[in-house]
Amino acid sequence: MLDFKNVSLKHGTKTILTNVNLVVAPRKITTIIGPNGSGKTTMLKLLSQTLQPDQGRIVFADEKVAYLEQNNELFEPLTVTELLEIGLTNEVPDSEFMYRIIQRLGLVEMADQLVDELSGGQQQRVWLAYALCQRPDVILLDEPTAALDVHYQVELLNVLQEIQTEYNLTVVMVLHDLNQALHFSDFVWLVRGNGYVDRKTAQQCYDAELLSSVFQTPVQIIEIAGKRQVIVELS
Ligand SMILES: Nc1ncnc2c1ncn2[C@@H]1O[C@H](COP(=O)(O)OP(=O)(O)OP(=O)(O)O)[C@@H](O)[C@H]1O
Ligand SMILES: [Mg+2]
Repeated sequence: MLDFKNVSLKHGTKTILTNVNLVVAPRKITTIIGPNGSGKTTMLKLLSQTLQPDQGRIVFADEKVAYLEQNNELFEPLTVTELLEIGLTNEVPDSEFMYRIIQRLGLVEMADQLVDELSGGQQQRVWLAYALCQRPDVILLDEPTAALDVHYQVELLNVLQEIQTEYNLTVVMVLHDLNQALHFSDFVWLVRGNGYVDRKTAQQCYDAELLSSVFQTPVQIIEIAGKRQVIVELS
């Protein structure tokens, strides 16, 4: 169980959340979307308890949470395998699981390279692997696809979805790509940047008026081969 109960938070004079009540759906994928600076990262920080609300509280069950921040850096040179081994903090380090993750995330060829010497996109896959190796019940991911090419964006989200189903993980992530957010999620939280957050099913978000108003940008929903897609109108 992981809930926002009447949570209010300001950063300086900027209101981020006002009396927000939200339930994180257990063993489902929830994606947070919203404009830059609206409070998405702040919400993950609250869920991971790296930030405390001004009012209200985060209700927390006895679950293991892994939090992958928007920007990650190492403080000492480590190879991919060395980093992932640190992630395996379990009583029984499951190196078989680690090698599976290395394979599933396409990291086999770089397993012995220094993380710092990989490209930004490769590093991002390594950090996801690191979070998964912690064998969490809940995984919080802040823009896990931001540095990836389209192939790896889709690949990473597919792998994440497979692992989520296989291990019954609760996932809360931030994405900017609206199609990916709606396609891969069960629930979507729309952060408006005025203190309020709407919780919808992903299906309810195929709503041009709703998305246009949240992002203050005209979007359309069209159907390609029977599948709905969000198109951002360019003027
Ligand atoms: N530690 C802080 N001190 C002061 N203001 C902060 C702090 N952290 C965030 N903010 C402000 O709070 C607002 C929300 O920040 P947050 O990082 O949650 O946005 P975001 O939705 O994740 O944006 P982005 O899409 O750019 O990552 C921003 O206006 C930001 O400047
Ligand atoms: Mg952010």
